[in-house]
Amino acid sequence: MNEIRTVGVVGAGQMGNGIAHVAALAGYKVYLTDIDQGILDGAVQTIRRNLGRQVKKGRLSQEQADATMARISIGTSANPLGEAQLVVEAATENMELKKKIFQDLCEATPSDCILATNTSSLSITAISSFTDRPQNVVGMHFMNPVPVMKLVEIIRGLATSDQTHQAVVDVAVKMGKTTVEARDMPGFIVNRVLMPYINEAAYALYEGIASAEDIDTAMKLGTNVPMGPLYLADLIGLDTCVAIMEVLHDGLGGDSKYRICPLLRKYVEAGWLGRKTGRGFYEYGSGR
Ligand SMILES: NC(=O)c1ccc[n+]([C@@H]2O[C@H](COP(=O)([O-])OP(=O)(O)OC[C@H]3O[C@@H](n4cnc5c(N)ncnc54)[C@H](O)[C@@H]3O)[C@@H](O)[C@H]2O)c1
Repeated sequence: MNEIRTVGVVGAGQMGNGIAHVAALAGYKVYLTDIDQGILDGAVQTIRRNLGRQVKKGRLSQEQADATMARISIGTSANPLGEAQLVVEAATENMELKKKIFQDLCEATPSDCILATNTSSLSITAISSFTDRPQNVVGMHFMNPVPVMKLVEIIRGLATSDQTHQAVVDVAVKMGKTTVEARDMPGFIVNRVLMPYINEAAYALYEGIASAEDIDTAMKLGTNVPMGPLYLADLIGLDTCVAIMEVLHDGLGGDSKYRICPLLRKYVEAGWLGRKTGRGFYEYGSGR
């Protein structure tokens, strides 16, 4: 397995741009790709703005921020991924889409390239089965917002090799993250616990127990979490929350404790996906 110098990131949405940010800051050359050029341009602006914030807080020099930006290139073509030793996929949470992406990645990357997925809940073993190298496929589950959050959950599929596992742990540590290892079960650790909590908060709103503001204030001040569950759901993206709940429901035997709150589904149908679209449980203006 070659030393990791270039990291590809597939999907430049809220997670992809954060992963590109921390990878470039850690010294890796980064190629960030998406199907949408507008999203890529927005991602570069977001990374520049977030690095600027780190400079303002004195955590980074302007030279370090400039050097980080210089290590990032973007594009809609998969060709430059041929130079990568590690690709982290951070596209939309949908198994059919990820299947196509991983099949394409087998064509676009060298055969010993590690293929990691940032999926929140989908089976790493199933994703690895779409590739020609299941031993090189692993879950690297970053938290949102990536530059701020310290955790990366590492998930091994059935065939993931020790070498692949160690290589991505080393990358995460170089990015300044702490890793935990989770079994390849629906939701892993964080979302197995978090999503039913968010879903229950949506039910509390749906059943008229309290307003969104009061639910969030109650949980913030009553349980000492930094933000309430509905505000957090808006940050994650309500489409992502629904997708994860579906995986928990289907993957854990249809247990009714994982039934999705109808209000959550309704908001997604309306395109109220949270901060990224400007409206979810709360209103944010223009979105992203
Ligand atoms: N939002 C969170 O809090 C969070 C946290 C951890 C993990 N995740 C996971 O990260 C992944 C991305 O989530 P997100 O919140 O960044 O979503 P997002 O909607 O912000 O971004 C997804 C991006 O994928 C792009 N995309 C779609 N098809 C593509 C393709 N074929 N090739 C390249 N790019 C493609 C879209 O254009 C979009 O820019 C999902 O698997 C999600 O479950 C999300």
